[in-house]
Amino acid sequence: MSERVYDVVLYGASGFVGKQTVQYFASHAVSEPVRWAIAGRNRQKLEAVRDEIGVTVDVLVADSQAQQAIDAIVAQTQVILTTAGPFALYGNALVDACVRFKTHYVDITGETPWVRTLIDRYHAQAAIDGTRIIPCCGFDSVPSDLGAYLVVRHLQREFNLSCNQVKAYFQAAGGFNGGTLASAFNLYTSQAIAQMNEPFLLNPSRNQTQAQIDRNRDPQLPSFDPDLKTWIAPFFMGPVNTRIVRRSCALYEEWQEPYGTGFTYQEYLKFDEPLAGLKATGLTAGLGLFVGVLQQPLLRSLVQPVLPQPGSGPSEQTMNEGWFSCELVGTASDGRQVRGLIRDQGDPGNRATVKFICEAALSLALQPDELPGGGGVARGGILTPATGLGDVLAERLRHAGMVIDVHL
Ligand SMILES: NC(=O)c1ccc[n+]([C@@H]2O[C@H](COP(=O)([O-])OP(=O)(O)OC[C@H]3O[C@@H](n4cnc5c(N)ncnc54)[C@H](OP(=O)(O)O)[C@@H]3O)[C@@H](O)[C@H]2O)c1
Repeated sequence: MSERVYDVVLYGASGFVGKQTVQYFASHAVSEPVRWAIAGRNRQKLEAVRDEIGVTVDVLVADSQAQQAIDAIVAQTQVILTTAGPFALYGNALVDACVRFKTHYVDITGETPWVRTLIDRYHAQAAIDGTRIIPCCGFDSVPSDLGAYLVVRHLQREFNLSCNQVKAYFQAAGGFNGGTLASAFNLYTSQAIAQMNEPFLLNPSRNQTQAQIDRNRDPQLPSFDPDLKTWIAPFFMGPVNTRIVRRSCALYEEWQEPYGTGFTYQEYLKFDEPLAGLKATGLTAGLGLFVGVLQQPLLRSLVQPVLPQPGSGPSEQTMNEGWFSCELVGTASDGRQVRGLIRDQGDPGNRATVKFICEAALSLALQPDELPGGGGVARGGILTPATGLGDVLAERLRHAGMVIDVHL
């Protein structure tokens, strides 16, 4: 690996998020010895990004569908970081090459039906080779997955107790990217959306009992939460994040490091007073209406042109003033509860997502021996942030200024 020319290649570097990953590397990777380059399909756009940010790095060019050109990039680096999405459209050749060249991989997809196809095609080979292919390293699903992992391990390490349940409660402010909306529209037009209802879509085995499936169904209605003593509503990213957490739980079980017998994970949006109940109900109704629109091809075609388009996103001010908070409550086998908190300043879909994926790539490139399972071939496959990166990522995020805390 160290014979490769680069440690990390940032693919999709000319996109709205991609450009921010270049900025992040330009300002953060200087303090660590990282050899990096930027890549994408359009040399002119990539060179413009490089010049605007004022950094001296190589520019590599390959269309996402050009397998040979993608191979040439992947063969030169230890890690691919990609933000070129919709990933179901632009991610296949990259993952295929990463598995063949044993190049570690991170992305920011939330397209779980596509992740399922990766598991079916590549998990076995990547596991044999120790190649860490880690989708969902953005706002979906790092706070959920890392948060649940840290709460579970805290109970085990500090109190020698296994964990029965983790619940996560989100609050956030920010904007929407055109690229995110394009990915959502692609899920609906490709008919892949139906699969997202499966609570265990990403588990290694999908032969759960009906009782297990029913116990893990996504919440549909607002309710009053007894643990937080406030109103909550279904979190719209829950159908993505919960599947990732369940995959982490299942993989750790395979590796003989289980979370807890019958472990469950669920997540919500949390509302503060005044009028918390009304806000929770209004948001649930509004979201239901939007999903109803997305489900109808005619309505979809009417709203798509008026929403933000690929390449666009929130203003600098909105991204800087945005924030998120993920509060976690873990319940141990003896009923004891621990609390966790992951919080940061900055728009979750951009500032936080960029911090998550860049620190994920740097974890793979710079600290391979400290990752879960060590640097050997024991822990490859289609992994999750918690199983592929674990405590190393948590520590790097803390160092980058994010609040990550677990306590009684
Ligand atoms: N997990 C999260 O929290 C999170 C947050 C934000 C975004 N996302 C996801 O990240 C993805 C990107 O979002 P964005 O806002 O940055 O979107 P964007 O601005 O539209 O960027 C898309 C990128 O894909 C590239 N691309 C398009 N077609 C390509 C092709 N044929 N070959 C190679 N590259 C191609 C674009 O290249 P050009 O510049 O040459 O057009 C651009 O770099 C989306 O899938 C979105 O859902 C996830």
